[in-house]
Amino acid sequence: MIKIKSVYTCQKCGYQSAKWLGRCPDCAQWNSLIEEMPLSAAVERGGRGGSGVLPAPLAEIDVSEEKRISSKIAEFDCILGGGLVRGSVVLIGGSPGIGKSTLLLQIADEYSKNGLKVLYVSAEESIKQVKLRADRIDSHGKDLFIVNQTNLNTITNYIKKGPVDVVIIDSVQSLYRPELSSIPGSVSQVKECAGELTCLAKSKNFSLFLVGHITKEGALAGPKILEHMVDTVLYFEGGEHHNYRILRAVKNRFGSTNEVGIFEMTGGGLKEVKNPSDIFVSERPDDISGSIIVPVMEGSRPILVEIQALVSYSGYSQATRRVTGLDYNKVNLLIAVLEKRARLKLANKDIFVNVAGGVKVAEPASDLAVIISVASSLKDIKIKSDTVVFGEVGLGGEVRAVTSPKKRINEARKLGFKRCIIPRGNLKGIPPEKRSIEVKAVSTVSEALKEALSLKG
Ligand code: TYD
Ligand code: MG
Repeated sequence: MIKIKSVYTCQKCGYQSAKWLGRCPDCAQWNSLIEEMPLSAAVERGGRGGSGVLPAPLAEIDVSEEKRISSKIAEFDCILGGGLVRGSVVLIGGSPGIGKSTLLLQIADEYSKNGLKVLYVSAEESIKQVKLRADRIDSHGKDLFIVNQTNLNTITNYIKKGPVDVVIIDSVQSLYRPELSSIPGSVSQVKECAGELTCLAKSKNFSLFLVGHITKEGALAGPKILEHMVDTVLYFEGGEHHNYRILRAVKNRFGSTNEVGIFEMTGGGLKEVKNPSDIFVSERPDDISGSIIVPVMEGSRPILVEIQALVSYSGYSQATRRVTGLDYNKVNLLIAVLEKRARLKLANKDIFVNVAGGVKVAEPASDLAVIISVASSLKDIKIKSDTVVFGEVGLGGEVRAVTSPKKRINEARKLGFKRCIIPRGNLKGIPPEKRSIEVKAVSTVSEALKEALSLKG
């Protein structure tokens, strides 16, 4: 008889070793290898599609029944690439309390109202807690079934027994397979549970949503392989102190990963935000220096955000630099560009730069806005409130072209802005007759400052 030996699995990266090691050779983490019993589950499951499937000519494969299922939440359907695909597996990650369970209950309710049979496996919360949440979001789909269960075998039994169209697992880290000796949430448990459910989804043709916890660093907890197993990976982002949530697709086998959905957490669940620019710009003070609006691209759509800077004389030998919503190193680099190329004295100044509304901006198109807002605050010159600006800034003080200038300008026009300072390189993309608002093209930082700060309001 062959004796099955246990393996040691790293709980951080999934590295497996036949003997115990104090430090993982792969990710260099100490004390992360834990003894686990291997299970040849792949053999047990027979792999995707079972053993009787023969290779078929590509041209003869029928995909005509690929109809998308709508959740009636347009932002959500859009992220999935136009609706849910039957048999697809979607992983949703996000920090605790951000609204994963709320969103999934809302879409579960919509799907069930659409005539689909939905099974919501609440592995973390009791069914009473789910009911309380359902009351808050006014959910009463009659084909929506809730169960509080963490045993994978019991869950697969429910699925095999009844006809089911959508299964939601909240969360995959709480499930366990009793045959495995490791605790729920460990690498082998997460891998096994997700793998088994994925195979079942493909063979029984139901759609599967998996909620995944994220680590302190913001990555999905558990093995990296989890992201490879599923068809779509969505991340929930949003500040703890703001009600706005951004749902972003980072992987999508059935659509583009360029899309984002913007939601607002209200007393009655998550509501779609149809015109995000309106919110981020609406509370802007009118006559203050150091504030400028920049249209940044979130996925394929432009959103107007306000960049604010405050420059004050530093009483200490070491000046303070604080940045929220932007990359700290990038802002420091831009301040150095201002010193060197525009000859502004900033070394003995405390500088604070902030993106209003708690959003994070990672796009280089915001460089020029940072430059102008810092200069505006330093000189205490107000920028005219009907002006927007975008452009990437290089170390030589040159202003470089960015993507989608037309979309950015159109968004600014829609929101009532009259003037736009853009990189000269973007000018040829927009012929004069197509310019919906006054466009000022600049090629250097000094030119941009002259243009923006001479527009005294
Ligand atoms: P939840 O969906 O439980 O988060 P997650 O599953 O990602 O951990 O959301 C919890 C938060 O949302 C909680 O702080 C309460 C708040 N909330 C509302 O503000 N309004 C609502 O209608 C609901 C259901 C929750
Ligand atoms: Mg939850």
